[in-house]
Amino acid sequence: MPILAVVGTGYVGLVTGVLLADFGHTVTCVDVDAEKINKLCNGQIPIYEPGLEPIVMRNLTCGRLHFTTDIRVAVEESEVIFITVGTPPKEDGRADIQYVLHAAREIAKWMNGYKVIVNKSTSPVGTARAIKQTIHQVLHERGVNFPFDVVSNPEFLREGTAIQDFMHPYRIVIGAENPHAIERMKAVYGFCYKNEVPTIEANLETAEMIKYASNAYLAMKVTYINEIANVCEKMRADIQLVAEAMGLDQRIGPSFLKAGPGYGGSCFPKDASALIRMAEDCGESLQLVEAMIKSNQLQKLRMVDKIRDGLGDLAGKNIAILGITFKPNTDDIRESPALVILPRLVELGAKLRVYDPCGRINGERAFRDILDSIAWCGDIYEAVSDSDATVILTDWDEFRSIDFDRYESLHAGKVLFDLRNLYERQPMTEKGFLYFGVGK
Ligand code: UDX
Repeated sequence: MPILAVVGTGYVGLVTGVLLADFGHTVTCVDVDAEKINKLCNGQIPIYEPGLEPIVMRNLTCGRLHFTTDIRVAVEESEVIFITVGTPPKEDGRADIQYVLHAAREIAKWMNGYKVIVNKSTSPVGTARAIKQTIHQVLHERGVNFPFDVVSNPEFLREGTAIQDFMHPYRIVIGAENPHAIERMKAVYGFCYKNEVPTIEANLETAEMIKYASNAYLAMKVTYINEIANVCEKMRADIQLVAEAMGLDQRIGPSFLKAGPGYGGSCFPKDASALIRMAEDCGESLQLVEAMIKSNQLQKLRMVDKIRDGLGDLAGKNIAILGITFKPNTDDIRESPALVILPRLVELGAKLRVYDPCGRINGERAFRDILDSIAWCGDIYEAVSDSDATVILTDWDEFRSIDFDRYESLHAGKVLFDLRNLYERQPMTEKGFLYFGVGK
């Protein structure tokens, strides 16, 4: 079995490295951040991902998983080297691949024989070829001529369910020019999944495009159901039943049809913009994706209108906000609807009482301009105390079983904006609540 290295211990790199080790591979994870590596060597993980910590511990203990800042040793000892570094958006929406190319250069500096360099970072079509060129250049400068192959192997991990996603992927995508590299990758994954996972073999560009096309499509599904929800709301139709019935058609499928306050996160928004720029760069345009981005922005603002229409003038109102992360089981608030909705509510004069099971640290940073209007709360009931209304923004499980009978004793206003449709109108009305969902 090839020895593996993973360059970059961010979200994707860490989950990938740790789980490859858990499947029995020997894996060295490399990062330039010495403090992070020190912590990881002691089993402390720098990201919030349920279930990851014990897996790190058991693989460290049995010696299959290593963390180091020494890329030289990692490269020299490995045959297959994954690049999993960030590709942050540039101002114009294009993905910045400078860290990917830097990693490629570092790998090339220490290559000592045949290597398969696998790009897992989400990066535009053409990146794998740029990696190849970069490595050739460094080898040429070194005056050596080691054989190597570049592979594009996009990841499809979701935050919060990354372990499950890694253990049971829908598919594996391997893009390469050389059949030998594809065989080496199939050996790596075959060892994990006993060849039971559908595997798409493609050229480099196709593999790179699959990732973008998939993410934009999922974001579009969410956006479509949100638009239908907005129409349902005006027509006494119920989006949840509409979505359920739609999903029973196998051509549509039931997932990503939950109406809500708009998609967010570190991937959908950035990948959609990057895809548009990619299309522009080759003289094409993606009208649907462009419309989707606009519609998703509007959806977030629409939530503010919903709250204002329901509560009237917001000046001086206390609003309990339950959830600020872009989805449950993560501490990530990047592109979260909360980033648009909370400042706007404050602008309209509201005071916010915010509770999120994991998002507070990131929230304090992101909402630094409106901190005067935010009271951070330790649980649901502290947040709703003395509030005029409750807004459920994220579908954390603990928000599914709120004890509404406590509202009176907490002097909490019985107005619920359930922006994730966790409750039904009828029982809430019976409890004396004014209830607002999305699309029903
Ligand atoms: C996504 C992709 O799913 C994953 O394959 C890729 O590797 C990275 O991007 P992630 O951003 O972690 O994963 O979250 P995901 O669970 O896909 O949700 C994205 C956004 O869509 C969230 O804001 C979520 O709340 C929203 N969403 C999702 C809905 O509003 N309704 C749905 O039905 C599904």
